[in-house]
Amino acid sequence: MYTLAIIKPDAIAAQKVGKIITHLEEAGYTIRGARLARLSQQDAESFYAVHRERPFFRSLVAFMTSGPCLPMVLEREDAVDHLRSVIGATDPEEAAEGTIRRLYAESKERNAIHASDSPDTADREVAFFFSESELRRLWGADAR
Ligand code: CMP
Repeated sequence: MYTLAIIKPDAIAAQKVGKIITHLEEAGYTIRGARLARLSQQDAESFYAVHRERPFFRSLVAFMTSGPCLPMVLEREDAVDHLRSVIGATDPEEAAEGTIRRLYAESKERNAIHASDSPDTADREVAFFFSESELRRLWGADAR
């Protein structure tokens, strides 16, 4: 099963990419796709469209466009639910010990990593950044 994770601009600026990827690999994930990306305003607004009416929306879009991020397609059994538990609660102060956000996030907004919240969302979010043909080209006969 696939899910989408994004290492956010705060964690990239803080040079936490290697530690976060190690954490993900040790949690059993295979990286099926990964690419540094700089979201445009339109990209960020579209990706986070479900949060359009929330008071933090403008600030979230500004943060997510403030520097490069690293979207990744991750594969593992039960990837969507499992990754949510590996990253921890949105607010690092509420995230469980040992979770990625507890370890590396700065704040509720600058929270180091995003993960899809349902299988349907994962399909949409993977497709937002990666085409089927790109993923197939990377893995050849081992493609999903
Ligand atoms: P993410 O899992 O990417 O989904 C939506 C993002 O909005 C969330 O992580 C945070 O970066 C941000 N966010 C959610 N709630 C708040 C909040 N109350 N204040 C600021 N940012 C938030």
